[in-house]
Amino acid sequence: MTRYFAVVPAAGSGTRMGKNMPKQYLPVVGKPVLQHVLESLVRIKCVERVVVALAPADPYWHKLEISGHPKIATTIGGRERADSVLNGLQALKAVAHEQDFVLVHDAARPCLRLEDALRLITTLAEDPVGGILALPSVDTLKEVEQSEIACTLDRRKIWRALTPQLFRYGLLLEALNAACQAGLQVTDESQAVERAGYKPKIIEGSPDNLKITRPEDLDLAEFYLQRR
Ligand code: C5P
Repeated sequence: MTRYFAVVPAAGSGTRMGKNMPKQYLPVVGKPVLQHVLESLVRIKCVERVVVALAPADPYWHKLEISGHPKIATTIGGRERADSVLNGLQALKAVAHEQDFVLVHDAARPCLRLEDALRLITTLAEDPVGGILALPSVDTLKEVEQSEIACTLDRRKIWRALTPQLFRYGLLLEALNAACQAGLQVTDESQAVERAGYKPKIIEGSPDNLKITRPEDLDLAEFYLQRR
């Protein structure tokens, strides 16, 4: 039977927030962002274990209420997001088989809806590769070079990649390893899998699954979470 695991890269410093604490630990509706993230992942019944990749000597982790949860384990993150995910995958080596699924979710997306995660999991249950939650672009998109518009992209073909991203364990490990060894800075798992020659599936997600990046995103996340 296929088993499910999760990896959360949480080793970033979040410099774009301009706060004195990494963004995954900033409070939203009275709880750190990462607490919200992990609460939503442990709630997914089929996910057996959640590996969180942390910055070396992270002083905040043990203060998280959920840090002692039996489903949760930690590992040390790396220089880039992909290195952190790779370390998380390595930490699952003793338990995960090639064909098992791994769900990778950003530590900075506290508004994941359980129904979206479950739709991703059930839609891809028999898929040999995997896929991602994404949103069709509502804006017209421009390709810009040196502050000048070079061209307009066909927005019917443009989707914004979100997380969770769900892939077969063996395939993702190999694809991320290859991308890192080639010195390529992939910014999501799908990019590494695409580069390996596969075509990941797109599952439409929710617009409120935002990634906390700038200070105003905290207010938005608070609004979305309080409305539920
Ligand atoms: O900076 P950005 O928003 O793209 O980061 C996405 C996710 O990757 C965050 O959860 C962040 O903590 C994580 N990350 C990491 N290791 C790094 C850089 C980012 O785990 N070296």
